[in-house]
Amino acid sequence: MKKIHKAKVNKIEKVSASSYFIEIECKNKVEVKAGQFISIYCDGLTLRRPFSVYANENGKIGILFKERGKGTKYIKSLNVGDFIDIAGPFGNGFDIKNKKALLIGAGIGTAPIAYLKSKLDEQNIENYYVAGFLNKDEIPQGMIIDKTCTDDGSYGEKGSVLNYLGVLINELSPEVIYACGPHIVLKMVSEFAQNYGIEVQVAMEKVMACGIGVCRGCVIDVKKDGKIINQTVCKDGPVFNGNEVVWGN
Ligand SMILES: Cc1cc2nc3c(=O)[nH]c(=O)nc-3n(C[C@H](O)[C@H](O)[C@H](O)COP(=O)(O)OP(=O)(O)OC[C@H]3O[C@@H](n4cnc5c(N)ncnc54)[C@H](O)[C@@H]3O)c2cc1C
Ligand code: FES
Repeated sequence: MKKIHKAKVNKIEKVSASSYFIEIECKNKVEVKAGQFISIYCDGLTLRRPFSVYANENGKIGILFKERGKGTKYIKSLNVGDFIDIAGPFGNGFDIKNKKALLIGAGIGTAPIAYLKSKLDEQNIENYYVAGFLNKDEIPQGMIIDKTCTDDGSYGEKGSVLNYLGVLINELSPEVIYACGPHIVLKMVSEFAQNYGIEVQVAMEKVMACGIGVCRGCVIDVKKDGKIINQTVCKDGPVFNGNEVVWGN
């Protein structure tokens, strides 16, 4: 499949206090699995910037992003009708199982989980999506969520998604958990899943250089068959079996 695409900006809008939604359209339809990412060439910067796919319908790709530095500032400055250069999709994506699923997203990690939810819904796979944000102003407009948690209690349940995990697992009896968010959230979710004997898939993030498995700048430790091995987040991941990741602190 062609990996570099010229894409036209169809839409760009602010959707929460600190996040933006951009929709781009490529000439040729690009199929993306939930959990895969694309890399955007940002004017003047050597390294492309990776972003999980948040939506992908009729050849249009949606990204939910936060401004962090030069790359995301450039993306924020784009206008409808501009053309950009994207590469991808890259990475393995979630391995969708026909099993009752609990979906957990935190912060900007909600982007790939919301896309995964749309895929599960399309396939009529039972799922329940819990998302956590700092406060109500950080909830992206239009995101479909079953339970929302905010750190300050300004919307939904007060506190972290982690506070509700045990109750949700007992109530819903999920057979698989899919998660994306900060390292600590993925580590804790994986520990819960292991204690309850539930399969868990986590989408990891690491600052990337090449983004295609060559520089080895994004490796993490993973346990396979009793041995600890290095795997790249960009190519072997970004989705890993949470029970195989060596979490550290
Ligand atoms: C697989 C993958 C999927 C991603 N999906 C999304 C997404 O859906 N939406 C989104 O907004 N971002 C996502 N990111 C993060 C995104 O790639 C970075 O925010 C972006 O590269 C920052 O580029 P920049 O030039 O604006 O900032 P830089 O100038 O590169 O960095 C500015 C500051 O942000 C920090 N930073 C850079 N990358 C990250 C990161 N990954 N996490 C936390 N801090 C970081 C840097 O340490 C620095 O302090 C993803 C990253 C990966 C690896
Ligand atoms: S970023 Fe180069 S190997 Fe992953």
